[in-house]
Amino acid sequence: MNQRTLCIIKPDAVRKKIQGSIIQKISDAGFRILGMKMIFLSDSDAGKFYEIHKERPFYKELCTFMTSGPVVVIALEKENAVADYRKLIGATDPAEAEEGTIRKLYADSKSENAVHGSDSEANGIKEVAFFFAEYELV
Ligand code: CMP
Repeated sequence: MNQRTLCIIKPDAVRKKIQGSIIQKISDAGFRILGMKMIFLSDSDAGKFYEIHKERPFYKELCTFMTSGPVVVIALEKENAVADYRKLIGATDPAEAEEGTIRKLYADSKSENAVHGSDSEANGIKEVAFFFAEYELV
């Protein structure tokens, strides 16, 4: 069944000007791009988006990083999109990510890890809706 998942190309990757290579890898892996935009996350939106991590010790660092420069948010669709996209990006910590994954290729650390991916089907729907109105999706 078709699922939605949200990709965020994080500020480290945009600073390195590798957003094009990342989008190419995602397209080559068979994901359809339903919507895409480059934005500057506000403190308030970063805080809300990562609210689930509010009690974690890295929450403040994560929000500061995610508002440190522009990001590219991409709504993706595919059969089994959530698991397939997580496989494509690799483990949160690039040191543990499999060869060939986006994080293995492009991420610097656990916090500056190039891309975000939704962690469940329900969160895929919720996170796409966080950034896109339905009329913005093709
Ligand atoms: P992401 O997929 O965007 O979802 C939550 C983010 O928190 C995660 O990617 C990492 O960038 C970040 N994160 C997770 N664990 C740690 C950690 N131990 N230290 C710093 N950042 C972390």
